Parts: sequence; C-alpha cells; structure tokens
Amino acid sequence: MHFGLHLEHACGGVCACTTCHVIVKQGDNNLSPMDDDEADRLEMAPGLTLHSRLGCQCVVTGDVVVEIPNWNRNYVSEGGGSMNLGDAIPLPKK
Ligand code: FES
Repeated sequence: MHFGLHLEHACGGVCACTTCHVIVKQGDNNLSPMDDDEADRLEMAPGLTLHSRLGCQCVVTGDVVVEIPNWNRNYVSEGGGSMNLGDAIPLPKK
C-alpha cells in the first residue's frame, strides 16, 4: 500500500487474516524473509502455494510481480476502495 496499490487487508495488516494473500510470480529476492507469524497464518489461506505470501507482512525492496488469487478478489468492498477487477464479467445493461 506504500506504493499506492490496493490490496485487501481485513485485519489492517496485523497478520490476523489471509485476505492479503498473494502468489509471488517474480521477485522473491526483493521481499523480506517470512517470519514465523506469517508462516503460521499463511497455513490458513485457501489455495496456498510454495510462493504464497501475506502482502501486508512483506517489506518490498525491489520489483515484484504477484498474482491475487481469484477467490481473494473483492469486487465490492466497504468504502468502495477495492477495484481488483481482474477477469470480472461486466453486468448486462438494463
Ligand atoms: S491483512 Fe490480514 S494478514 Fe495481511
């Protein structure tokens, strides 16, 4: 979020949920190492992969490419701040 990218974060970034789950596609070496709290919480994330991280727990030091899992995209979040539209299908016009 320090880089102006919106990512769901239901717990406010205190490692108490998994809504910020991302799958790192490139740039693993540009992320801080995973600590025990993140590893423990991440085990509860649906769709866990070997490249999963909790976005709120990573310190980014360079270029990183991540995928936000489809099931984790919140198309309508409270406050209207979430717009991870990805492969959303537009509703038909009336
Ligand atoms: S926002 Fe809850 S753990 Fe990252």
